[in-house]
Amino acid sequence: MTDIADAAQVVRSVGADAPDESPPSEPCVMLIFGASGDLTKRLLVPALYNLACDGLLSPNFAVLGTAFDPLTTESFRARMSEDIKKFHTRKDFDQTIWDDLISRFHYVQGGFADMNVFETLKAEVKKLDEQYSCTGNVLFYFATAPKFFGLLCDNLHKSGFKAGPGWKRIIVEKPFGTDLPSALKLNEEVLANWQENQIYRVDHYLGKETVQNLLAFRFSNGMFEPLWNKNYIDNIQFNVSEAVDVEGRGGYYDSSGVLRDMMQNHMFQMLAYLCMEVPGSFEPDAIRNEKAKLLQSVRNYSPEEVSRYVVRGQYGPSRDSTGKVKPGYREEKDVAPGSNTETYAAARFHIDNWRWEGVPIYLRSGKALWKRGTEIIVEFKKAPEVIFRGTPVTALGPNRLIFHIQPYQGIEIQFQAKIPGPRLHLQPVNMRFGYGDAFKASRYTGYEVMIYACSHGDATLFSRGDLVEAAWRVAQPMMDHWAKTPAQFPNYARNSWGPKAAADLIAKDGRRWHEVLTEDVLRKVPLFKDGDMVFLEQVIMALRSRQVSAGELIIKKGDIGRELYLVARGEVEVLDFDGKVIKVLADGDIFGEIGVLMSKPRTADVRAQTSCDLFVLDKSDFSRILRDNPLFASAVQQVAKERYQVNLPTDALTAPR
Ligand code: BG6
Repeated sequence: MTDIADAAQVVRSVGADAPDESPPSEPCVMLIFGASGDLTKRLLVPALYNLACDGLLSPNFAVLGTAFDPLTTESFRARMSEDIKKFHTRKDFDQTIWDDLISRFHYVQGGFADMNVFETLKAEVKKLDEQYSCTGNVLFYFATAPKFFGLLCDNLHKSGFKAGPGWKRIIVEKPFGTDLPSALKLNEEVLANWQENQIYRVDHYLGKETVQNLLAFRFSNGMFEPLWNKNYIDNIQFNVSEAVDVEGRGGYYDSSGVLRDMMQNHMFQMLAYLCMEVPGSFEPDAIRNEKAKLLQSVRNYSPEEVSRYVVRGQYGPSRDSTGKVKPGYREEKDVAPGSNTETYAAARFHIDNWRWEGVPIYLRSGKALWKRGTEIIVEFKKAPEVIFRGTPVTALGPNRLIFHIQPYQGIEIQFQAKIPGPRLHLQPVNMRFGYGDAFKASRYTGYEVMIYACSHGDATLFSRGDLVEAAWRVAQPMMDHWAKTPAQFPNYARNSWGPKAAADLIAKDGRRWHEVLTEDVLRKVPLFKDGDMVFLEQVIMALRSRQVSAGELIIKKGDIGRELYLVARGEVEVLDFDGKVIKVLADGDIFGEIGVLMSKPRTADVRAQTSCDLFVLDKSDFSRILRDNPLFASAVQQVAKERYQVNLPTDALTAPR
């Protein structure tokens, strides 16, 4: 079973609208160009298999694969039968369903420029159409490098594939162009002989259930729309962190970079869903019109604005926990040694329309980061603190609505609640909906819905030409500016949160990135590893992030301790009176707890030895959590004893508030 997919497809939901009575896909012959490649075996075939298992694949269906590879129908079937064992996404493998599906797979070997091959393909499609009663419908899937898209469209047209009964539709994989001029040219080539409503441009993020749910959430829940604007929303953050590096795809990636690879497509799709105006209906074009309009409203930056609002990064080499050095991006296979390709980017965008004018929209994404996670954080404006004057409440946090896209799939609302007790103390708490808890779901690849929707002529989940162009218009000024200005690379370590410049970018606006933490991340810290869920939730809600550069002073001797630090990544040094390093602390260590607990001036300087990612726990939160969690309190006592030979009295930890 593979873990490539995060998209959860609802098989049957409990107490939901109506049982799923979806008809199967429409009859068709699916002609896959690039059938011997990665995409076919990893995603397309497992998706077809899932559709078949769920009764959503028409019995009038056949696959005709074609590629340069010298395969026959028999060897193609044998290869797919091997691969499916590795890449299927279901718990159990149903051999009977697979045997039936694979018996409908056929193969023709040939080059994409060879008109004779197209003649053979046409004859074969005709034969399969008759054999499987596909009523003339043909779905062409371009699972090839983008450079073939125009050629394939042209040759399909020239060889007369458009003639005859039934529909003819083309699914085109990403990337659609590599910049604005190439995307315009490609649209021109593709649309020279085909209609826009025959072209289905894939963005696999739109196949994710959690992304599709953005629209369902916004437009089926009346309570949010009135708040969805600049009057109530302070800022929105889109985060796509990847823990993986370029994974041997250096050749492709080096001519791409994160802006082209993730932002211009996947992230802008999510941005459009989250921020677009209310469509007149759920008709494909009603939604696609609004998405295109939204992206057309995103400000296209001048070079000065690119410098002000966008930062880029590239990961350097680093040592893992076993001491093994892992290569930096420039040392990766097929990457130019002096490459200026960005593996990280963070940006503040402006949506220049009535709804969003002045609301900062932050996007960040990168490879080789500390965790894998895609989240959208909608941060609301704070309530006025003045109402709480005369109470112990000093500061209010903002409400947040968090869409957890992957790997955890859910929606969370954060708000303040009164801590039980005689006085008015507040604590941020959350309400969370998890897909896994609410739906009986099986893991899908995300491509099922694409193939299924295309067969029904539903283009909602596909990008229209104008949207792709609008997205490139936003990205183009950044690419142009970066091409002209040298980058200071590498500028972040593997497994870190990314370059410090990204933290500074948002800090300039008086804000910070909201890091979504999970229990499993916290459990890696010895101090937290035995904590129960309530305790960990409390810690998660209270921690805030801080990035510091190498050499920066974090704690100054003599200052009064107001916070405790947790090293997420990096090394900090504790200095004695003469400035000599007496201790080096690293990932998972805490420091600063004594000053906080004993309310005494700090006894030593603490300085970042390398660039560091830190979590900070404020004194008030720390004390509260200690009081509520005796186990944690004794663990802290233990650290204090070992590190400082200080016996912390229990009542110092548990003093009443
Ligand atoms: C692809 C990019 O489009 O999306 C990859 O080319 C990236 O570089 C991938 O890793 C991320 O997809 P997902 O579904 O794992 O978030």
